[in-house]
Amino acid sequence: MRPLIVIANWKLNGNLKSNQDWVQVVCRGMEKGMPAGRKYVVCPPFPYLAQCADLIQNCSAAFLSLGAQDVSRHETGAFTGEVSAAMLKEFACAYVIVGHSERRQMHGESDGLIAEKALQALDHGVTPVICVGETADERNSGREVEIVRSQVAKLVSVLQDRLADCLIAYEPVWAIGTGKVASAQVAQDMHRVIRLQLAEFDEDVASHVGILYGGSVKPDNAVELFAMPDIDGGLIGGASLDPQEFLAICQA
Ligand code: G3P
Repeated sequence: MRPLIVIANWKLNGNLKSNQDWVQVVCRGMEKGMPAGRKYVVCPPFPYLAQCADLIQNCSAAFLSLGAQDVSRHETGAFTGEVSAAMLKEFACAYVIVGHSERRQMHGESDGLIAEKALQALDHGVTPVICVGETADERNSGREVEIVRSQVAKLVSVLQDRLADCLIAYEPVWAIGTGKVASAQVAQDMHRVIRLQLAEFDEDVASHVGILYGGSVKPDNAVELFAMPDIDGGLIGGASLDPQEFLAICQA
């Protein structure tokens, strides 16, 4: 049985004071009790990893973990501005988002680069959360399955059975930040496509990989989304910036 995982992606948001308030509110809420068998992750911008690691360590809710929003494909060396998987591990990161559509679009990240980043994370014991998803134009032209299958195919060819230690996040680009959440059935249909494609490679891997949905998840749509058989949680952007809203999604 795959645990349900809810991940907060703060993107380019936060400051020392609001970060402290966020973790304290979420921890206090979680300490009152949460549904069993779930995991929760917060992914702040890099400069706040140390602060959030300390804040989480002081939180008795053992199911809140730290994540990052990107990682270098390189182990170490002359790569100005990049952050390595080893560095993330030093700051107690258990997860890292790779291949977010905002990085694919604004930084030209390819499927191959994203797979290499995931390998670096795996090599350092950090679970990669690998994002896939189609744009509005691709869906409107009926190519959504072709696009997502192509993205997943690269992951299968590079990561092979190590995919079992990864999470995949299906984030339809047209739902990110737009308020136009995919219906639970639309999301489930694409999650099923991904799960069946993984099963073509290895049924055991397919059964292990958690597949999260991301794109305008809110407390009022999370229940229906998370109830779907192939949706194993959510990757939350805007709604994660409000600790009470994030908590409500976690309790969905
Ligand atoms: O990584 C999650 C993010 O892309 C979703 O953003 O604001 O639509 O929840 P949002």
